[in-house]
Amino acid sequence: MPLAMKSDAKVDLLKSIPLFSGCNRKELRQLAALTMPLAVGDGEILCREGVPGSEFFVLVSGHAVVSEGGVETGHLGPGDVCGEMALLDGGPRIATVTATTPGTVLVLSRGEFDDLLDVAPGIGLELLRSMSRRLRAGDHATVASRQSPIGI
Ligand code: CMP
Repeated sequence: MPLAMKSDAKVDLLKSIPLFSGCNRKELRQLAALTMPLAVGDGEILCREGVPGSEFFVLVSGHAVVSEGGVETGHLGPGDVCGEMALLDGGPRIATVTATTPGTVLVLSRGEFDDLLDVAPGIGLELLRSMSRRLRAGDHATVASRQSPIGI
């Protein structure tokens, strides 16, 4: 459900989100025009593994769980993002992301996501950083599981 919000309040909200904290006021105003906060319910699926994706999400409040093949691989909370991978490479969603509490998300369509990167290119770098952290954590977990004496 879309949540009505005044432009200044939206700019302040965006500023409080780490992904956008490097943006100047002008960029934040342009971003505010692109994004609309939406309420999500407990159990709502934001991304579904294996299907094409056309939306990018920024969690403003609330929590979500990430799973691949039914196995939990991550948790998301306020300020975290999801859905960028399918938009960046055009492939299917790598994981399912399910809200575990009621919350609020900013949703951007593919076109809005492209506009976001045009308006504030620094955001692309921030996304790369967060994807690198995730890849590093995933690689460490894979190596640790291979080194486990019982192979789990
Ligand atoms: P995408 O593949 O488009 O849709 C599922 C999203 O889940 C994916 O983009 C990432 O944004 C996110 N994601 C995948 N794996 C993890 C993880 N281990 N931790 C947090 N988020 C993840």
